[in-house]
Amino acid sequence: MLDDKLKELEEASLTAIAKAVSTSDLYQVKVEYWGKQGKVSLLMREMGKMPKEERPEFGKKVNQLKTKLESAYTEKESSLKAEELSAKLEKERIDMSLPGPWEARGAKHPLSQVTEEIVDIFTRLGFSTRSGPLIEKDYYNFEALNIPKDHPARDMQDTFYIDQEHVLRTQTSPIQIHSLEQEDLPLRVLGPGAVFRVDADVTHAPMFHQMEGMFVDEKVSLAELKGVLSYFNKEFFGSEVKTRFRPSFFPFTEPSAEVDCSCPECGGSGCRLCSFSGWIEVAGCGLVHPNVFLQAGIDANQWQGYAFGMGIERLAMVKYGINDIRLFVENDERFLEQFS
Ligand code: DAH
Repeated sequence: MLDDKLKELEEASLTAIAKAVSTSDLYQVKVEYWGKQGKVSLLMREMGKMPKEERPEFGKKVNQLKTKLESAYTEKESSLKAEELSAKLEKERIDMSLPGPWEARGAKHPLSQVTEEIVDIFTRLGFSTRSGPLIEKDYYNFEALNIPKDHPARDMQDTFYIDQEHVLRTQTSPIQIHSLEQEDLPLRVLGPGAVFRVDADVTHAPMFHQMEGMFVDEKVSLAELKGVLSYFNKEFFGSEVKTRFRPSFFPFTEPSAEVDCSCPECGGSGCRLCSFSGWIEVAGCGLVHPNVFLQAGIDANQWQGYAFGMGIERLAMVKYGINDIRLFVENDERFLEQFS
C-alpha cells in the first residue's frame, strides 16, 4: 500500500520537477513533496501502520527517493538559473551604439578668447592690464586727449552723450589718461574694454571693444612701436604676415600712423576679406602728443611714449573670417560652438 503511494509520489514529484518553469516554481515543488510538511514526509509518518519488519526497508526507499529528488532538483535548478540569467541579460541588454545623454558644454565667447590672446601676447612684452569707467567725463574721453570742444575730431566719433559733461566712452584711450594721472613712470599699460558709438551696420556696432596700449619711458622711439606691433601681428595672425605703417592723424599722437597687416587670408595677393588690396588695417598708433603729457602734469621734455589702439571685434573678424559683427551678440549657438 505505502509502497504504491511512494511510487506514485515519485512519479508525481519527478514530473513536477521536470515541469517547473522557474526557480521559484521549483522551490514550491520541493516544499510540496519533500519539505518538512511535504507529501513524502507525511507518508513517512504513516510508516507506523506497517508491520515492524517492513519498516526499515520502507525507510530506506523513502531516503533513496529523497536523494533522487534532491539531485533532480539540483540539476533542474542549475538549468533554470542559467535560463533566467540569459533572459535577464537579454532584457537588460545595452545598445552600445545608441547616442549617450546629451550634455551642453559652455565655452568662452570668441571675443573673450581673442581678448585673452591679445593680452597674453602683450603680457610677454611686459604690459599689464588696466580698466576704466564706461561712462567717462567729457574731459577724459576728449579734452585730456587733446580733443578740445568744437575740435573737428569729435565728429570722427559719433558720441552717446549722458549729459553735458558725461559720455559713454567712444574709445579706450581715456584709460591712458587715468594711468598717467595715477601711476608712476615708466609705464606699460594695456586697456581692454567696451566702447560705444552711434553707428550700426555689418562691420559697426553701437557697442564694441577696443584694446588700448601705452608705453611711457624717458626714451621711446617709433622704431620700438613698429617692432612691438609687427611682433603682435605675427603672434596673432601667423608668422608669415607682414606689417605696414601708413601716416595718419590722431589728436593724441604725433606722429600718428595706421597699422596694416598683410591679409592673412590671401597672403597679400588680394581677396574679398582685404577688399583686393592685400592689406588689412588692424590698429591706430603713434607717439604720445606732448599736449597729452602736459595736461596730465607730466614733463614732456623728460618723458616720451607710444600708444596704440585696436578693435577687438575687427581683429577677431579678420582672424576667423567673420563677416558680420552682429554675430558676436546674437548668441546663436551654431556660431558660438565653433569656438568651443
Ligand atoms: N582711439 C583711437 C580710435 O578709437 C585708436 C587709437 C589710435 C588709439 C591711436 C591710440 C592711438 O592709442 O595712439 O580710433
